[in-house]
Amino acid sequence: MPVPTSPAEAAPVRVGLIGAGRIGVSHATLLARRVAGARLVAVADPRPGVAADVAESLGARAEEDPAAIFAADDVEAVVITASSTAHAELVVAAARAGKAVFCEKPMAMSAEDAARAVAAADEAGVSLQVGFNRRFDPGFAAAHDAIEAGRIGSVQLMRSLTRDPGLANPAGVPPWTIFTQTLIHDFDALLWLNPGANAVSVHATADALVAPEFKDAGLLDTAVVVIRFDNGAIATAEASFSAAYGYDVRGEVFGSGGMVTAGDGSTSTRHLLTADGDTVETSRSDTDLFAVAYTGELAAFCDAVRGGTEPVVTGRDAQRALAIALACIESVETGGTVDVKPVGA
Ligand SMILES: NC(=O)c1ccc[n+]([C@@H]2O[C@H](COP(=O)([O-])OP(=O)(O)OC[C@H]3O[C@@H](n4cnc5c(N)ncnc54)[C@H](O)[C@@H]3O)[C@@H](O)[C@H]2O)c1
Repeated sequence: MPVPTSPAEAAPVRVGLIGAGRIGVSHATLLARRVAGARLVAVADPRPGVAADVAESLGARAEEDPAAIFAADDVEAVVITASSTAHAELVVAAARAGKAVFCEKPMAMSAEDAARAVAAADEAGVSLQVGFNRRFDPGFAAAHDAIEAGRIGSVQLMRSLTRDPGLANPAGVPPWTIFTQTLIHDFDALLWLNPGANAVSVHATADALVAPEFKDAGLLDTAVVVIRFDNGAIATAEASFSAAYGYDVRGEVFGSGGMVTAGDGSTSTRHLLTADGDTVETSRSDTDLFAVAYTGELAAFCDAVRGGTEPVVTGRDAQRALAIALACIESVETGGTVDVKPVGA
């Protein structure tokens, strides 16, 4: 598990946050109150009054135009939590303004935009980290450490799943969200838990089982993907937009020497035993299940900026996960197995 390592005397990184929606409010609050290496300076959102609502309570200033964040001399780094379709342009603009960038997933919606974003950060020489928070969850990080240490031998079978707690607005889900925004976390996790391997091909199937009346409008709320890797490993990734029992994220890696699992959806190790049986409290949201991980990824970003080191999750990691998501879309459209396009070095 990455641990914040900035020396106590290092000045906090001055951060501007762009996009004050659901996760933006959560990240802004963590930056202002939980991440010692950060100081939240400004919050921007084009919706009138939205940035002010968040910024005022956290001691930051509010802007409606993200350009004001890019132009601000007192902002060293930006955290992008705007809607996904805005990410790539915002990464490019932030990098050109010389700001270090943390961008929520997906970093881009197309391979071309993802390459542009990475190139802009490389050309500007700024840090670029992407919000694959699962890597900062203590259980997933410990599983990764065990795999890296060779404890399960050579990786053969893998599983990753995401079950969201509910589908509040099926009409508001953009096409292919289940691959580009939900399962993209699983794709990154599978690549990370299979160190050194590349995804070769995918076969994806998906349907609208939660809200079938929206299927004709393009909704896919349930999906399973089989992924083959160049080290021979075979993985399944699955997602549902509506688990009655809460937010559930799990991973499993099976190898020649054993197996490791991570995630059980519970909020604590407490088991309540009564005449009704054994009760475990389950997480009801991502900000609940991944509170530690969201704090850890932002702390690690600030450490990378201050220490001049490469971020733990890079723009190229985002490109590799996106390449799997894009292959899944083609697989559903064609009904066949699709090669995953390699990401250029
Ligand atoms: N890592 C995770 O676990 C996780 C969890 C939730 C959301 N996310 C990602 O975070 C992003 C935001 O998700 P959300 O649920 O908070 O969405 P949201 O719709 O609640 O908020 C998005 C905000 O971005 C603002 N916005 C839109 N375009 C903008 C632009 N060009 N510049 C500045 N602001 C802009 C909107 O006004 C809105 O306030 C999405 O990309 C989503 O995939 C990641």
